[in-house]
Amino acid sequence: MSTLAGKHLVLGLSGGIAAYKSAELCRALVKAGATVQVVMTEAAEHFMTAVTLQALSGRPVYTSQWDRREANNMAHINLSREADAIVVAPASADFLAKLLHGRADELLSLMCLARPIDQVPLIVAPAMNREMWLNPATRRNVAQLRADGVHVLDVGQGEQACGETGDGRMLEADEILEDLAAFFAPKILQGQSVLVTAGPTYEAMDPVRGITNLSSGKMGFAVARAAHMAGAQVTLVAGPVHLPTPRGVQRVDVQSARQMLDAVLAHVDAARVFIATAAVADWRPALAAEQKIKKDGSGLPPSLDFVENPDILATVAQSPRGVSGALFCVGFAAESHDLLAHTTAKRLRKGVPLLVGNIGPATFGQDDNALLLVDESGAHTLPQASKQALAIALITHIAKQL
Ligand code: C5P
Repeated sequence: MSTLAGKHLVLGLSGGIAAYKSAELCRALVKAGATVQVVMTEAAEHFMTAVTLQALSGRPVYTSQWDRREANNMAHINLSREADAIVVAPASADFLAKLLHGRADELLSLMCLARPIDQVPLIVAPAMNREMWLNPATRRNVAQLRADGVHVLDVGQGEQACGETGDGRMLEADEILEDLAAFFAPKILQGQSVLVTAGPTYEAMDPVRGITNLSSGKMGFAVARAAHMAGAQVTLVAGPVHLPTPRGVQRVDVQSARQMLDAVLAHVDAARVFIATAAVADWRPALAAEQKIKKDGSGLPPSLDFVENPDILATVAQSPRGVSGALFCVGFAAESHDLLAHTTAKRLRKGVPLLVGNIGPATFGQDDNALLLVDESGAHTLPQASKQALAIALITHIAKQL
């Protein structure tokens, strides 16, 4: 998540059992290249020790506004001025109520109140029992905090430490990390709608067997995540893959190429950009048997006939909106050799303004990739990097073409 690299964050912990997740969050932020200054309320220290967070952040933790380490004795001013953002996770119901009223009777709330409001955003990850979360007082406080410009993250849903089940859990550390990475990303696709296909397709030959390929979906999911980070409304049509849905992205799961085409056609009218990263099976068995095909004892394999699948990208690119450019279409080419020649030829064949070439066997299932962007002005290489970093670079390139 490169948008967090070089950022300096104050990570504030108020009192809540979810504080155990903040240790993980602190570690993840540091791993993402951020520096983290932890500030804890007295209540937070009942759930997590400052020693743990000092070890994970590599910096002494502040817990008191009377901390004598600061030469001017103004930790609330000094720490808030140097931050790119203050992130309060967990933000308890009580802490939200304090923020709402501008209370400042301990270091963390004092720092939130004293921060330069236009330069240091305040992001809070609420954590509380479901009844507390649903209480009209909390509903009111959250609405008012949002109106005051505080960035209130969602809550998770599920089993709570108290034994009850419902809304109010703090998001997991990786979810908060993803939301923070999105927060810092430039909003170059704000207000745009992006449709992405990803993963392989699965073409059944009988109820238990079929043909598919080794696409992991990682590149397409990274593209969908990058588009969302850039501010777009994103729909991701995914073949059978084992990947979590990028936060904030609407996902439609499909199996076959024909289902993928139907899902794409159902969503494409609303889109400004269509990015086809899916490795769609070129052919499917002409007939999918209703029952499992059994060995008949002859020693001969069953004879299978194949028919060609619809070309989703070409269909969309050749639609009136694709041809006019109202819909910007991007294709991918997974090749094994002669990348430039094949990618250039495929761009013309598919009739798209931008085609992205990559070496299939080298990238399927991997976290890294290298891309060759081919458009009418020529070819442009994005060298080996994580798929997420490449996806951000690709989205940046696409945004410039719109
Ligand atoms: O022709 P080829 O499969 O190499 O083209 C790859 C590009 O076309 C990818 O963007 C892929 O998602 C898209 N495609 C498609 N429908 C197909 C085959 C490929 O959308 N049936």
